[in-house]
Amino acid sequence: MKIIVIQGPNLNMLGVREQHIYGAMSLEQIHKQMSDAAKQSNVELEFFQSNLEGELVDKIQECLGVADGIIINPAAYAHTSIAIADALRAINLPTVEVHISNLYRREEFRQKSVTASASTGIISGFGPFGYHLALMSMTQIFNEIKAMKEAEAKQAKK
Ligand code: DQA
Repeated sequence: MKIIVIQGPNLNMLGVREQHIYGAMSLEQIHKQMSDAAKQSNVELEFFQSNLEGELVDKIQECLGVADGIIINPAAYAHTSIAIADALRAINLPTVEVHISNLYRREEFRQKSVTASASTGIISGFGPFGYHLALMSMTQIFNEIKAMKEAEAKQAKK
């Protein structure tokens, strides 16, 4: 199983930016932890970060036929980007949206994610551990899809 982890604008500044909100871990450290966890569960990970909306849209489109699922933190674009939401809907892969901070404890403009409705589920407020939770959720989603396909195949044989 292959999961592409897509990180939006300013997440390359983790560990430096607003540590009281986002913590002290760098993006590289978060990715290293995810890679270590993925090794235990037969999951291949690819990481991508961009500060540019169009590059994020391109990367999401490229996931089609290549990835089994997406973990995405669209960062500030979660609040504004219909283009990213549309790209996620277009490729229609299992997707977990992650936010390090709890959006609902923050400014009003952060309390709406336009991309969340294009995702399977959203994790918000658990700090960098949210990425680990996303990985666990994705494994659960894959298991459910597999079980569903097996049940369908069994049904078709009858
Ligand atoms: C964020 C929350 C966004 O509101 C913010 O613009 C970010 C990070 C988070 O992970 O908590 O850049 O997505």
